[in-house]
Amino acid sequence: MFRNFKVLFLIIAALILFSSSGCKKEETHYGVLGKSVGPYWNVVRKGAEDAASELGVKVTIFMPQKEDIPQQIETVETWISMGFKGMAVAPSDPEALVSPMNSAMEKGIPAITIDTDSPNSKRLCYIGTDNYTAGLAAGKKMAEILNGKGKVAVATGSLTAMNSLERIRGFEDALKKYPEIEIIRPILCDNEETSRAVELAETALLNNPDLSAFFGVYAFNGPSAAKAVKAAGKKGKIHIVSFDVTDEHLYLIDEGLIDATIAQKQYLMGYEGVKIIHSMIKNGVQETLDSLPKNEEGDCIIDTGVDVVTKENLEEYLKIMDKWGVEHTFKL
Ligand code: BGC
Repeated sequence: MFRNFKVLFLIIAALILFSSSGCKKEETHYGVLGKSVGPYWNVVRKGAEDAASELGVKVTIFMPQKEDIPQQIETVETWISMGFKGMAVAPSDPEALVSPMNSAMEKGIPAITIDTDSPNSKRLCYIGTDNYTAGLAAGKKMAEILNGKGKVAVATGSLTAMNSLERIRGFEDALKKYPEIEIIRPILCDNEETSRAVELAETALLNNPDLSAFFGVYAFNGPSAAKAVKAAGKKGKIHIVSFDVTDEHLYLIDEGLIDATIAQKQYLMGYEGVKIIHSMIKNGVQETLDSLPKNEEGDCIIDTGVDVVTKENLEEYLKIMDKWGVEHTFKL
């Protein structure tokens, strides 16, 4: 009797021990931090969620309402204090996010960048578009559409984020070969506020009656310029080269308001971003980095690539969107 009691006691003690912290499965929780609320980031969200459900991990995905550097800093700091195990960040300002991302790294929390980089931080890897090259492609397309002549307004959502600055640099470099194309100043910046973007495009049209085109650097810039062009009755007279494909872009390309758009693969930024962070936690940071592509300086840069989408290849692009499960109401 006494012996049975002792065995029972040992079993209960073992069970208590097993259910306490020592053997409890710790929850793996990652963070994905975007730059603004809108259809572009919804696709990043979908990619991150798909990866999280495949891996059986928890991911918090957060985007400030519009470009908001202080809120991004605060979010990273909160995630560190909440014990997140890793994070993928799209810095609205590459320098401002150095300190919070480095502080994550110093605490052993792998931090990577997606969509836009912060090369001076200790982030382990960047996954996204090669923005300079994509800007060059936009510039070449613009020169082709304008037959090497015209006046172009550039509209963006940020003058601090590296992706925006690199796209503009690439665009301007491509147009250097065309002395008869003028880029008007200043560059229009709306901080990713759609209503402001439309207002700025309307003002540019009023102030420049001889304007030939808009270059829309961020996802909502093309559609915002299209709204202004349509309202001014200048469809067909003013061309638009934009970035990204959202449902709105599909209608506007089909309608002939947007001539061409540089489609990013933001689904992969969310999907691969979560997979890479998870691999760093599961297999080790160095082991993961060893398996990933590096540039000449040995920096881990994963170029997700772009497609130039026009009315001619719209059907092809819809297939890519369907493959990723990105919803769109537009049908051909
Ligand atoms: C950019 C993002 C931006 C988004 C929405 C995209 O083209 O890559 O950084 O937040 O547009 O405006």
